[in-house]
Amino acid sequence: MRTHYCANINEEHIGQEVTVAGWVHSRRDHGGVIFIDIRDNDEIVQLVCDPADSQEAHKLAEEVRDQFVLIATGKVRPRGEGLENPRLKTGKVEIVVDKLIIENRSLPMPFELEDEKVNEEIRLKYRYLDLRTQKMHDIFKLRSTASIAARNSLAEQNCLEVETPILTKSTPEGARDYLVPSRVFPGEFFALPQSPQLFKQLLMVSGFDRYFQIAKCFRDEDLRADRQPEFTQIDVELSFCTQDDVIAVAEKLIKDVFTACGKGDKVPDTFERMPYDEAMEKYGSDKPDLRFDMAMVDVIDIFAKSSNEIFSDIAKDTKANRIKALKVPNGDNIFSKRQMKGFEDYVRKFGAKGLGYFQMKEDGLKGPLTKFFTEEDLQTIIDRCNIKVGDVVFFGAGDKKTVLDYMGRFRLYLAELMDIIDEDEYRFVWVVDFPMFEVEDGRVKALHHPFTMPKLDENGNISYDDIEDLKSIAYDIVLNGTELGGGSIRIHKEDIQEQIFKLLGIEEEEAQEKFGFLLDALKFGAPPHGGFAIGLDRLIMLLAKTDSIRDVIAFPKTQKSQCLLTQAPSDIDGEQLKDLGLRIRRNVNN
Ligand code: AMO
Repeated sequence: MRTHYCANINEEHIGQEVTVAGWVHSRRDHGGVIFIDIRDNDEIVQLVCDPADSQEAHKLAEEVRDQFVLIATGKVRPRGEGLENPRLKTGKVEIVVDKLIIENRSLPMPFELEDEKVNEEIRLKYRYLDLRTQKMHDIFKLRSTASIAARNSLAEQNCLEVETPILTKSTPEGARDYLVPSRVFPGEFFALPQSPQLFKQLLMVSGFDRYFQIAKCFRDEDLRADRQPEFTQIDVELSFCTQDDVIAVAEKLIKDVFTACGKGDKVPDTFERMPYDEAMEKYGSDKPDLRFDMAMVDVIDIFAKSSNEIFSDIAKDTKANRIKALKVPNGDNIFSKRQMKGFEDYVRKFGAKGLGYFQMKEDGLKGPLTKFFTEEDLQTIIDRCNIKVGDVVFFGAGDKKTVLDYMGRFRLYLAELMDIIDEDEYRFVWVVDFPMFEVEDGRVKALHHPFTMPKLDENGNISYDDIEDLKSIAYDIVLNGTELGGGSIRIHKEDIQEQIFKLLGIEEEEAQEKFGFLLDALKFGAPPHGGFAIGLDRLIMLLAKTDSIRDVIAFPKTQKSQCLLTQAPSDIDGEQLKDLGLRIRRNVNN
């Protein structure tokens, strides 16, 4: 219907007749002459409807309103002196319309399309209109470019694209399953996959060597700004591979995707690696944001010698407890007294009992805590934290988990407050050597999933003093403090898998019931294998620099996992329930 997309019209077309098609972006009636900005997929071009050129087109233009669908034909001419619009690619020209078709009309918009402050509920209800904006088009073009680049990169790296089922059995990624009732077997359910984990391992047993899939995953979990119940992974598995092989494939994939999106120069060829323990001890997080430093420093040995009993008591147990210093360069000159007080309230929200601090003045360290230390110990603190005049050093003391958590959060909070994060930087780090297990309320849980290979001792056995110290061959890729993806080398031998299930307290019967098919497969010549998955939505969020995952998913769910556009989930009729052998209890507590 069109001869040109708006974006392609420029000074080269002056004098030519063109036809463009799209939506009315805006319309201005200048008493006699009507100007219409028409927008297609990509760009806006200005139409001029002047009765002197076409009475008919001008008459129709009088009826035109925002978001009407138009097809317009006319000659391209330069805009008048001083009337150019440098913000548009087409800003030097306009089309003098001699034929206008109103292809379709539109109700008035339920909200101002370009207004970013419009309530999200209404935007999601009319998502097809929200998606009509240039901002959204740009995001989804970026997403398409990234997906295509990911596919090409993995195909080039000899991975075979294979689709795995959506109607399947529960997959263990730690969230609740979305369930689908079976009609043929009333009372029985399929689960939607939380990831293709088990199937991709089976594909390695089938000898497919290297696999990939851009896979839909489903997890019924509490939603956050970077979580959706339905999301997409770039999922990869390799056989006969080491951790280094997997990491190399992932790094090339990321580099290729960034390059396709015009940001290749922001990505190094290989990424830094940091052991999990170091990430936790220095940054209080397994997804450290390394765009700024402010690493925590251990000072428990110095506080052990202090004359303050609270600190010296905490310092007695160096395994269970931590005392950490967090230096803020020039903080003494930046923060007001009120802010300093507010910081304590901030960390208390995350379980801190208090927040000590020292200020470095011309004549040495000052602050209510200094009296508990000898001059010599204060000097050790200055040296260890490399404290300069004007700096502030905060201290967190207490049990390890709580201190690392709130000090890590506090570090991020301060960085944001001081606006020291370079938003243009992409800082990648592999967090490696994750613990195999975490113990919560006396229960041993897999930190990654139960098929992750533990680090074995030199005799090939699982050995440890404290079960929480056992490490796994698992790795996460972290970008600017966000977990972008993760993976592991898997257990491919039955005896190790059995030992891990035992440690996790999974009975043989339960293991058979849940993953019997995988355990059986391991008995039929499973090769060594491992892989990773990158959250495509999160990757696009970071590429598009948006802080809501809903911006990068065409039809997302709300925070309560609803689709406001289709009103799903919704009631189903009695017949369907009957077919499925189901009855609804409205009040689940009864
Ligand atoms: P994991 O559970 O770490 O690993 O998931 C991999 C990546 O998927 C993304 N992700 C999500 N994105 C949006 N919404 C969610 N609810 C959500 N949950 C996860 C994250 C995450 O890093 N099977 C393993 C991978 C493997 O071992 O190969 C897995 O799924 O970016």
